[in-house]
Amino acid sequence: PKDATIFSMIQPTGRFHLGNYLGAARVWRDLCDIKQDGQRLLFGVADLHAITISKPQVEQFRQLRMEAIASILSCGIDPSKASVMHQSSIPQHSQLHWLLSTFANMGYLNRMTQWKAKSNIRDSDSDSASLGKVKLGLFSYPVLQAADILIYKSTHVPVGDDQSQHLELTRHLAEQFNNFYNTTVFPIPTTILAPTKKILSLTCTAKKMSKSDSNQDSVIYLNDEPETIGRKVRKAVTDSTTDRFHYDPVNRPGVSNLINIVSGVLRSPVEDIERDIQRFNNFQDLKSYVTEVIVEELREPRTLFKRYMSEPGYLEKVVGKGTEEAAAIAEKNIKEVMEVMGL
Ligand code: ADP
Ligand code: NA
Repeated sequence: PKDATIFSMIQPTGRFHLGNYLGAARVWRDLCDIKQDGQRLLFGVADLHAITISKPQVEQFRQLRMEAIASILSCGIDPSKASVMHQSSIPQHSQLHWLLSTFANMGYLNRMTQWKAKSNIRDSDSDSASLGKVKLGLFSYPVLQAADILIYKSTHVPVGDDQSQHLELTRHLAEQFNNFYNTTVFPIPTTILAPTKKILSLTCTAKKMSKSDSNQDSVIYLNDEPETIGRKVRKAVTDSTTDRFHYDPVNRPGVSNLINIVSGVLRSPVEDIERDIQRFNNFQDLKSYVTEVIVEELREPRTLFKRYMSEPGYLEKVVGKGTEEAAAIAEKNIKEVMEVMGL
């Protein structure tokens, strides 16, 4: 829509990977490419979220935050069309988090799945035992995420389906606030789901590909060299079925993950890829093809990442401009919210 405000963020918890690219950054780039007059695009580095599970070393954290900006730009996000900034540079995120936390119901937050997953808590654990192990910041993470979105009065939020539950809470808090104060201050944001299926770890198909995975062979990083991509794909788990390459995520998750990757990169339906790869006689040939497809798609991000990392001055300029643009919106909106509340 014409006056849409589109907002999304990514955590600086490690190097960007193919899943982040297909599930987030390429969608952001597409949104830049089709941007219309009157639309606003904001893409942030969620550094305040990145300290909820464990705290990185200070120097390493600075590096990761800067790499995240370089990665966003390497994926083709145009800083003249989108504001790129760090979450912590806009204090209104934290300010609105507090205001919204006075609406957030503990029982509702308790039912969210991510804090349990991230602190290795099983459903069978009792509530008091689970909560005893969890920091307040991790527990209220979804409320901060709601504040991240609502501080810009965002109307559209592109995310992966792992975030649907959080978007639901965001909508709920916005409605509660609007109803309580009999106002329309907050638009009710819509989720834009990435068209690509979730990309799985190359070595363990029970997990998704993730920045924080300690096994680097399970992850294709944005800046992996072609040889590295080839080696990782060759080692990717498949199966010993001699049958042709059928798409069957349940029984053949390894080969289906490779099909999903090619389908995602080429923007072709899974069935078309499945049909096309019948021309290969063995996994070796299939994997060479998958490697080729990934290497080609990541060629530009890989080159750009190297260039941006050697230009810290440029990165600072981009973030400075993005922060200014985001701050202008956030300052105006927090004022309006506080006025509505009688603050
Ligand atoms: P990670 O789990 O790698 O640290 P984040 O939690 O920071 O990634 O997620 C950033 C964005 O990337 C989100 O929109 C998320 O849905 C998307 N994303 C993360 N991992 C994958 C994946 N394996 N496949 C597809 N999308 C993903
Ligand atoms: Na993560």
